[in-house]
Amino acid sequence: MKVNSRSVVAAALLSAGITHGAPTSFCASVGDVCFGIAVPSSSASSGSGNIYFQISAPTSYQWVALGTGSGMFGSNMFVLYQDGAGNVTISPRAGTFHTPPSEDTSSTGAKLTLLAGSGVINGKMIANVQCSNCEAWSSGQTLSLTSSGSGWISAWRQGSSLATKDKNAALVQHDDTDQFTVNLNEATVSSDSNPFVSAQTGNGTSADPDTTPSTGSGVVILAKPSNTVLVAHGVIMALVMAILYPLGSLLMPLLGKWWLHGAWQVVAFCLMWAGFGLGVQAAMDRNELFDQAHTRLGTVVVCLMVIQPALGFLHHRNYVATQSRGIISYAHIWWGRALMVLGIVNGGLGLQLSNERNSLIIAYSVVAGVIFLAYFVVKGWSTLRKRKGPVGGPGKETGRPL
Ligand code: HEM
Ligand code: HEM
Ligand SMILES: *[C@@H]1O[C@H](CO)[C@@H](O)[C@H](O)[C@H]1NC(C)=O
Ligand SMILES: *[C@@H]1O[C@H](CO)[C@@H](O)[C@H](O)[C@H]1NC(C)=O
Repeated sequence: MKVNSRSVVAAALLSAGITHGAPTSFCASVGDVCFGIAVPSSSASSGSGNIYFQISAPTSYQWVALGTGSGMFGSNMFVLYQDGAGNVTISPRAGTFHTPPSEDTSSTGAKLTLLAGSGVINGKMIANVQCSNCEAWSSGQTLSLTSSGSGWISAWRQGSSLATKDKNAALVQHDDTDQFTVNLNEATVSSDSNPFVSAQTGNGTSADPDTTPSTGSGVVILAKPSNTVLVAHGVIMALVMAILYPLGSLLMPLLGKWWLHGAWQVVAFCLMWAGFGLGVQAAMDRNELFDQAHTRLGTVVVCLMVIQPALGFLHHRNYVATQSRGIISYAHIWWGRALMVLGIVNGGLGLQLSNERNSLIIAYSVVAGVIFLAYFVVKGWSTLRKRKGPVGGPGKETGRPL
């Protein structure tokens, strides 16, 4: 059988473009960072095999990336940058938590092949890519090739060309990111071959790389998680753990009014639960509920705090009855101190997790440090005062020995 190759291409284009769908394309919210995805019907029906994707962006970007999933962690990432020789580098990377991902060199890392039509063309970086094993990768996550709502993420950074063929080139954090869901059934193409050359008939110049693809059907840009919720969570939790609880604890040695201490701490305790609710919301928005140290330790601290008001009340009852500290008193005192310290540390982890400015992390540490210094000074002073005998006179104290 001898067939004219041109007619094969034409037939393929015809069937790919008209009868059996085309790559689905979409752009990130910045507008000029765009993607195309195509799943050959043979791969779709067998659940594995080649898929094709395209990444394009102006050369004003240092790097742009497409990734699978709904967050950085565990994502199969494809990062594009200039190779310094008129073409582009496409680098498969394993997503990590909010740290720059490095090349996935494991045996299950994405096997990516740069195809015709790739290059730096008219001020645009274009990568037409074939991936032969993108249905599963090193993190254990998978991509269903027939998913009607597959999750994808993208990220980009403006800047000068990295000009390297090194697939493990160091990346500096993105300017911004987006999240999409893509109906891969709308991205099916009939033939298992580069579906993106059709737009660049023959010599590559007749296609207009400046026209941004319109968003294909079945692609949704997901709303960004609310930052207000996150900031409210951070502010309330930091306030409770680093300021309100320690100050409330200081009220005991300072003023000796158990009811003032109790009321203050119970207010802080209620605020803490509000902050917890906001934290859970922030975590669900980001698909990272109980995924990392911050949310886990935070949940433990908040839950262990539940018995603290009861311990305080029991101590008070016991003190009124016996006029001395018992086991329950020390339990209340040290349980409270330990959880406050863990809470403060966890606030630091939260700031780190959300990639906060260093200045904010330093400010947080300074405030926490000053409050703790004040705690030690007041404790030292009240211990001295205790040795010299009561200065407040009888009746000043209720429920606490000087
Ligand atoms: C989540 C809420 C609470 C926290 C985090 C907390 C924390 C603390 C801490 C750290 C101390 C030791 C202060 C020191 O270093 O001298 C303390 C002492 C004390 N707390 Fe609480 N507390 C809470 C709730 C309560 C409640 C509800 C009561 C009473 C109804 C109470 C009664 C007392 C009393 C009487 C002392 C003095 C113990 C002594 O010095 O012998 N606390 N609390
Ligand atoms: C002792 C308890 C906790 C403290 C002191 C605390 C404090 C903080 C702080 C200061 C931030 C940074 C906020 C910002 O950058 O504006 C943060 C972020 C965050 N916290 Fe907490 N938190 C606590 C518990 C929790 C819990 C229990 C959860 C969820 C179950 C949670 C979920 C989060 C999430 C999802 C972030 C944002 C992470 C990101 O940007 O990816 N936190 N937290
Ligand atoms: C870039 O490299 C790919 C893969 O080797 C090739 O097909 C393409 O023609 C190259 N582009 C340019 C502009 O050289
Ligand atoms: C490439 O396409 C352009 C625009 O259609 C045309 O002017 C040019 O002659 C073509 N070059 C070759 C080598 O075919």
